[in-house]
Amino acid sequence: MSSSHDTHAAHGAASTHGAHAEKKSLRLTLHVWRQRDPNAEGKFATYKLDDVSPDMSFLEMLDVLNERLIAGGEEAIAFDHDCREGICGACSLTINGQPHGFERETTTCQIHMRRFEDGQTIYIEPFRANAFPVVKDLVVDRSAFDRIIAAGGFITARAGSAPDANALPIPQVAADAAMDAAACIGCGACVASCKNASAMLFVSAKVSHLALLPQGQAERNSRVLAMVEQMDKEGFGNCTNESECEAACPKGISVSNIARLNREYLRALASSD
Ligand code: SF4
Ligand code: FES
Repeated sequence: MSSSHDTHAAHGAASTHGAHAEKKSLRLTLHVWRQRDPNAEGKFATYKLDDVSPDMSFLEMLDVLNERLIAGGEEAIAFDHDCREGICGACSLTINGQPHGFERETTTCQIHMRRFEDGQTIYIEPFRANAFPVVKDLVVDRSAFDRIIAAGGFITARAGSAPDANALPIPQVAADAAMDAAACIGCGACVASCKNASAMLFVSAKVSHLALLPQGQAERNSRVLAMVEQMDKEGFGNCTNESECEAACPKGISVSNIARLNREYLRALASSD
C-alpha cells in the first residue's frame, strides 16, 4: 500500500461492473475523501492496495486499508457502519459517484470486492447534501432525518400484543404497501442521489407506513403536516420527478410513495382549520 494526495474532486472512475466467480486478489487504486472536521477543506487522498481478497466486503476492504494506515502511523479513515447486514442504514458511502455503489437494492456493506475488476480505480466519497454536513472523512451528520421522525410524533392507538394485531383486519393490499414502505432504513441515499437533495422518498416512506394502517389514523393529518414542515426547515430540496432516489434506494422504496405523500399532504391541508 502506498499513499499520495490528489486535490481533484473528479469522479472519472472506471466501470465497476462485472461479476466473476473465481478471482485472485485484486489490485486497486482508491481515491478516498479525507476531511479533518466539518470546517476543514476536504480533498481526495490516493491509496493503492495490491492484495484485496475478492471475498472481502467493501467495508472489510476499508478495514484492511485502515489497519495499514494505522500501522504506518497515519490516521484511519472515518466511515459509518453498524450492522454490516444491510438493515441499519449507517454505511453512507458514495462509490464511483453512486450512493451505495452500482448494485441495485444493495447497501455499501453488502457489496463484495469480487464485483470489482483487477486494476480498477474507485472513488469513495461521503453522501453529498447541505442537510447532511460532513463530520469527518466519509461520515456525515444525518440527524436531520431523526428530527423529521421526531416531528412526526407518536401514535395514540394501543397497538396491543401480537394476537391483538392479528385480530385487527387490514386489507392485504394496504398491509403489503405499508410493510414495503416500512422497509426504509433511513440511510439517506435518496437525498444523496437527488440533484435537489430532496428527502421526499424517505419522508414519503415514513408517512405511508402509518397512513396505510388503522393504527396510524388518529394522527394522520397532523403527522404529515409536521414532517413536511420539518423536512423543509432542514433545507432538503423539492422533488422534480427525477426518480434517482428510487434507483439509489437499497430497499427498493417506490416513488409511488411520493405521490401518496403529496396526496396525504393536500388531504391534511384541506381538513385543517
Ligand atoms: S427511502 Fe431508501 S434511500 Fe431513502 S432513506 Fe429510505 S432506504 Fe435509504
Ligand atoms: S452497516 Fe448497516 S446497513 Fe450497512
